[in-house]
Amino acid sequence: MWCSVSERVAVGVLASGSGTNLQALLDACEAPDFPARIAVVLSNRPKAFALERARRAGIPTEVVLRRDHPSRADWDAAAVSRLRAYGVQWVCLAGFMKIVTPTFLEGFPDHVLNIHPSLLPAFRGLHAQAQALAAGVRVAGCTVHLVDAGTDTGPIIIQGAVPVLQGDDEDALKARILSAEHRIFPLALRWAAEGRLSIVDGQLVVDLPPTEARWIWKG
Ligand code: GRF
Repeated sequence: MWCSVSERVAVGVLASGSGTNLQALLDACEAPDFPARIAVVLSNRPKAFALERARRAGIPTEVVLRRDHPSRADWDAAAVSRLRAYGVQWVCLAGFMKIVTPTFLEGFPDHVLNIHPSLLPAFRGLHAQAQALAAGVRVAGCTVHLVDAGTDTGPIIIQGAVPVLQGDDEDALKARILSAEHRIFPLALRWAAEGRLSIVDGQLVVDLPPTEARWIWKG
């Protein structure tokens, strides 16, 4: 099915770093049937390579500096108003190295997705891949979840699993997990834009199409 630009759900991506996940989302949006489009990329870091990726794709960029705002909540309010100016309906945190406050979440209730490089609820917070190696797990992975007021605590939408191999260092594991991230994040965004995510009695319900319900993710 073909999706015209006006039918596509407008998405704002927040990124602080190299933006490989942003790139995966941009690439997914190239598909004629993808139900979402990236309307704006916003960063707290003017030199983030993610902004360059956005410019190359012809996507508007916004930079909101923390030092220009007296509090974290003020930063969040400014970010919400910039995103709203582009008609954003869903927000993707794609390597966004800042915890959003309730002010931000109130701007987009239950409409903020985050990608985290672990199989949550294990290894929340920073250096998740190093935490996984230190714990000696044999299976690692990544999670896309709805963002709530906690750190990496929101309802899980999809996960991708990868093996931890003998001799892996942090960089090797990061790279393997990252390739899984690039597969699951666009899928989660597709489901969000198709209206497949809903909160029923406080629980996330993911209404998968029958073909996808048989497998969640296989490598
Ligand atoms: C990814 O590992 C993501 O899970 C984490 O930050 C990293 C960002 O990578 N939140 P990139 O900027 O998308 O390349």
